[in-house]
Amino acid sequence: MPTGLLPVYESPKAFQDACEKARRDGHSVGFVPTMGALHAGHLALVAEARRRCSFVAVSIFVNPTQFGPGEDLARYPRTFERDLEGCARAGAACVFAPDAASMYPPGESTRVRVEGLTDSLCGPVRPGHFEGVATIVAKLFALAGPCVALFGRKDFQQLRVIERMARDLFFPVQVVGFPTVREPDGLAMSSRNAYLSPEDRRGAAQIPLALSHAVRAFQAGERSVARLVEPTRARIARISSSIDYVTVADPVSLVPLADHGTAGDRALLAIAARVGAARLIDNVVLGEDPAPCPQEEA
Ligand code: PAF
Repeated sequence: MPTGLLPVYESPKAFQDACEKARRDGHSVGFVPTMGALHAGHLALVAEARRRCSFVAVSIFVNPTQFGPGEDLARYPRTFERDLEGCARAGAACVFAPDAASMYPPGESTRVRVEGLTDSLCGPVRPGHFEGVATIVAKLFALAGPCVALFGRKDFQQLRVIERMARDLFFPVQVVGFPTVREPDGLAMSSRNAYLSPEDRRGAAQIPLALSHAVRAFQAGERSVARLVEPTRARIARISSSIDYVTVADPVSLVPLADHGTAGDRALLAIAARVGAARLIDNVVLGEDPAPCPQEEA
């Protein structure tokens, strides 16, 4: 379906054909899978894909299999017309926007499960979530074909799971993680920030602040897992109604480090917490990422 802005494909076959044709015409294909409700973080992925590739496709699909019962599938923000404008402005060549029945037609019964990497962090809290993600991304990769695919590092565990899945299933896809894009006060951009009331939005700024304190402590030589986790947790507890986790983990295997343990030269500090009506996640790789808030306030 060509819109005034850029072609929008609803059928998997039409999208697959468009990517194949682009390669036949000599283009390199960049691919940015999304669930829509695009913000500046997504558009930065599109722009980065455009820097790397001459033909960039964006998928917009709110994938039902990655939402658990009682999660926000029904109310997930949908802003399709605005998303198309953003994609066109950021340099996308086409959008793939299938409906659920074409990605999960009657009788389909294949699921992709990545083991190990999904045992920690969001895995136990959101059973089935990463199976839904790995399954839909495998389907999308099968349609896009050889390409460079970009994902935000805010969803750090998702990025690791997709890298593993692409390698294990021999997809001809280069998976690239892109730094988290943040609001001026450091809050990681997320479609779910739309659920925050003005008061919760102000409180949510404690999350990047807490991570920034941990980055500075780590830079000052702190390696005790407990002394990295506890102040972070205390800060987030001020504004969160429930904390799923504040965890220091190995940045490659995602295996959590014991509280009484010490971190190495690089360690993932990841958090998931509920603030008002939103479940927010964020992370930094200590020893690698800068502090999310350059100018910290107490
Ligand atoms: O990060 C997302 O928006 C989704 O999990 C993804 C990767 C598009 C799969 O539905």
